[in-house]
Amino acid sequence: MVTEHMEAIQKAKSILDQAGVVGFPTETVYGLAARIDLPEAVRRIFTTKERPFFDPLIVHVYSLAQAKTLTSHWGKISEALAGKFWPGPLTLVLPRSENVNPMITSGLESVGIRMPAHTVALEILREVNVPLAAPSANKFGKTSPTKAEHVRSEFSAENVFVVDGGDCTVGIESTVLLVKENGMIPQLSILRKGAILQSEISNFLNSAGLAHVFTDKVDKKESPGHMKHHYMPAIPFILVKKSDITMDEILHEVNQQLAVLPDEIESIKIFKPSQGVKSAEVLNLSADSVIAAREFYHSLRRAAESGQDCIVFYKTPLHEGDRWEPLFDRLTKAASLVIE
Ligand code: TXA
Ligand code: MG
Repeated sequence: MVTEHMEAIQKAKSILDQAGVVGFPTETVYGLAARIDLPEAVRRIFTTKERPFFDPLIVHVYSLAQAKTLTSHWGKISEALAGKFWPGPLTLVLPRSENVNPMITSGLESVGIRMPAHTVALEILREVNVPLAAPSANKFGKTSPTKAEHVRSEFSAENVFVVDGGDCTVGIESTVLLVKENGMIPQLSILRKGAILQSEISNFLNSAGLAHVFTDKVDKKESPGHMKHHYMPAIPFILVKKSDITMDEILHEVNQQLAVLPDEIESIKIFKPSQGVKSAEVLNLSADSVIAAREFYHSLRRAAESGQDCIVFYKTPLHEGDRWEPLFDRLTKAASLVIE
């Protein structure tokens, strides 16, 4: 088993060194990795994923020293947050250094950096010894992968090599935090919600005596890659926020609303069964927000393969509170329709 594991890591290194892409496990979701110093490899990430070039990639590192080579400004806040939350599901968006090819950042002057908390990811990063750009290992706009088999089936046509590191324990993508430390008071903005909550970041910085402000005012240009839809399964997914509604009424409303939806929104195809929908698979998630996040993408994939025409998830008062917000961000974007 140990030899098998070492062989897989060596094979990954050899593919990466030859400008190929590799599926690799992290604690959040599986990534599709390429060396940041090989433009041909970085381009291969976009073509393999069918991802538009305007959506920037996150760069993964195994050490603080490596992280610092990627940014032109590593301040006190970055030092403190990396010390507290790395390795872990927090991406810091910082001013990029010249070591980062603008293709990775979609032309932005910032770069997203993260140290994943997964021994296999860290071993691969250490072996290759060059930071790895890695978006989630799914086709653009589709459901993210949390098992090696998800990546293999997503890229079966492209024959992508995947290092199996077991199931992802967090299950949804990292918190993306924009850090601006150039003014008097550092300004922070959550660009994507994840397992590490704003309240945790804020409480930690306060306890460390580091002044900061959180702001939602982010220039759209500073945060591309935020589409209305994302993470979409292969059949329509319906988020139901009403409690007094029968399944027949839901299906009726879905058919009416689907009929008037465009075929594509912001380059993401909206799947509309030509016969309409007559049956639904109900998605069940744990009442524990941590377990629900861990199981979400896998459950969504399984529901999409159930043979029913669509998937329905009921939002209830149980799902209130900031611990549920990262998951409901994904649920809302994965939904073709919200009934409220
Ligand atoms: O947990 C994760 O973050 C996973 C694993 C594989 O590490 N990666 C991931 O990558 O979710 P991806 O490409 O699916 O999502 C990255 C998102 C982009 O869509 C964008 O919203 C944001 O992170 N991002 C990356 N670099 C940025 C930058 N320089 N400025 C603003 N947003 C950025
Ligand atoms: Mg993604």
